[in-house]
Amino acid sequence: MIRTDPETPDLYLTPVEDVFIRNHLGPHPRFDPDSWSLTVEGLVERPLRLDFRTFQGLPQTRFTAVHECFGNPLRPEVPTRAVTNLEWAGVPLAAVLELAGPRPEARHVWLEGADRGDFAGESGVGYLKDLPLDQAGAEVVLTHTMNGEPLRPDHGYPVRAVAPRMFGTNSVKWLTRIVLAAERPEHLFTTRLYTRVLPGERESRPAREKDVSSKLLTPRDGRHVPVGVCELAGYAWSSTEVAAVEVAVDDADWQPAELDRRGPDPSWQRFRFRYDLAPGPHRIRCRATDSAGRVQPLTGDRNAVHEITVVAG
Ligand code: MTE
Repeated sequence: MIRTDPETPDLYLTPVEDVFIRNHLGPHPRFDPDSWSLTVEGLVERPLRLDFRTFQGLPQTRFTAVHECFGNPLRPEVPTRAVTNLEWAGVPLAAVLELAGPRPEARHVWLEGADRGDFAGESGVGYLKDLPLDQAGAEVVLTHTMNGEPLRPDHGYPVRAVAPRMFGTNSVKWLTRIVLAAERPEHLFTTRLYTRVLPGERESRPAREKDVSSKLLTPRDGRHVPVGVCELAGYAWSSTEVAAVEVAVDDADWQPAELDRRGPDPSWQRFRFRYDLAPGPHRIRCRATDSAGRVQPLTGDRNAVHEITVVAG
């Protein structure tokens, strides 16, 4: 079930009711706290089954992160710009791994959701993602709240993984099983979909770290605005801090926008730019550069520069 996106609101934290929902496998599983458990198995010294109460007694962390859909896995180069910024709380995966004790030959963490269904011609498939063990142990959090409230059923209640610097596809909902393995899993959602060939590369790789991107949110695309000085604003984000955002109005050169610093969490960063708009229609574009030196492409990829049109007068 793919719900159409409401307009991304122009707030630092996206209200939960405005968060997009991406469920690939039809009706989602419904748990209550007594029916849910999480198993940790495979290459571990101490296989585990955690119930919700035990899970909640583990050390907790809280962070803000951009939650961004990678887009249609069958058309990975088309921009969808389904993006939100959310506060999450939960248990670091590292704390659960410590309880289970990964064996030395473990290299990959498989994260499996409880949903089952049909997708892309395969039937009875589950939702499975994987990450290298070092990276998963350092970054993944098993969350149970979104903006301070328990996860809603569509967003993975009671527990979902969140990989804060990565595309939402890696954030497995209704998480019930973690497997440690020596190999990556061969699976629809790991090796066949949500993969891409990055510019300048030949090998396809999994869609993990977010691209550098930005989105103009004020004013809204297609709106009428008063003639004169207009504040143009939006958010920029990447898997690393965004270092600069530029704005171009009509055929003028790119000019630097004012940009907030990011802070320790991988949240989005606000940018603003004031421009004196003459009467008539205007094409406005924004382009971000991250601290790794990646720049949004002008066209042709999922993170191509965002463009809006407004009419002054
Ligand atoms: N987890 C499970 N179990 N099943 C899914 O279909 N969809 C993934 C990810 N986790 C999915 C999942 C995708 S593609 C995205 S973008 C995010 O969840 C969407 O999370 P949301 O629906 O909470 O916004």
